[in-house]
Amino acid sequence: MVVTEVNELSKSEYELFRQLVYKQSGINLGEHKMNLVRARLSKRMRVGGFTSFGAYYEYVQNDRSGQELTGLIDAISTNTTHLFREMRHFTLLADCIKGWAADSAWCRNHKTLRIWSAGCSSGEEPYSIAMTVHDTLRQIGKLDAKILATDISTRMLASAQAGRFEAHRLGTVPSQYRSRYFRKVASESGEQIVEATPEIRSLITFGRFNLMTPSFPFKKGFHIIFCRNVMIYFDKPTQEALVGRYAGQLHPGGLLFIGHSESLNSLDHPLHYVEPTVYRKD
Ligand SMILES: C[S@@+](CC[C@H](N)C(=O)[O-])C[C@H]1O[C@@H](n2cnc3c(N)ncnc32)[C@H](O)[C@@H]1O
Repeated sequence: MVVTEVNELSKSEYELFRQLVYKQSGINLGEHKMNLVRARLSKRMRVGGFTSFGAYYEYVQNDRSGQELTGLIDAISTNTTHLFREMRHFTLLADCIKGWAADSAWCRNHKTLRIWSAGCSSGEEPYSIAMTVHDTLRQIGKLDAKILATDISTRMLASAQAGRFEAHRLGTVPSQYRSRYFRKVASESGEQIVEATPEIRSLITFGRFNLMTPSFPFKKGFHIIFCRNVMIYFDKPTQEALVGRYAGQLHPGGLLFIGHSESLNSLDHPLHYVEPTVYRKD
């Protein structure tokens, strides 16, 4: 196998990539991510046989299929996640569902509970939502539920759609859910792999969606939006515009959950603070 040596990344080349990534994904790399960009792009460039960042940039710009741009954003984005990250959100989700399901007027008006996992990465978030929703509705019935799970990264979406996890990653899943919602599957690598059961998979629809899309195409709105640990990579104007679009998508009484280290404090937005990382549309 031929391993291509990649030349140094100059400041001006870094600036070109920085602007491209910002324009395409809203991800604001700032001035100190040069090493990260160099490391992550070098890997892709070696595979493609590119020796200079300048030539690679030109290639991305001229690739009409958009495939390499997708791959570049994939390589740059940070996808860290885990099952039942921020347990408090899932307790709150179950409480909300119980409250809505107990309100017959609400059920008549809404019928289907709609939840969006925006920036779902490899699926741990939507599967955690699906387990919570399924378990809650199993006990009280009355409502249907649909979960939309989107991400800009096709690589992450493929992994999410497969619904498979290394067994040791189930450590954060409540024990009663582990046995109910996962089955062991055979694996060639010897690694213990589990697969989400059809009853939770069927609740989720996966799709590629760029959150920078200026107007959202979803017609029916959402009762809850999870956008956690995504906005942290955006600058303030981008965050503000995005939260405005989320508010436009939420039904009155609907909730927005954000990441544990995020806050909407310094943003101008129409939502009401409920508790740290939770906001409601009145
Ligand atoms: C750190 S992960 C968060 C995963 C999950 N929400 C959680 O909190 O565990 C951030 C995700 O946001 C996605 N992302 C970044 N920019 C995006 C954009 N403009 N549109 C859609 N997804 C984006 C990344 O691809 C990545 O999978």
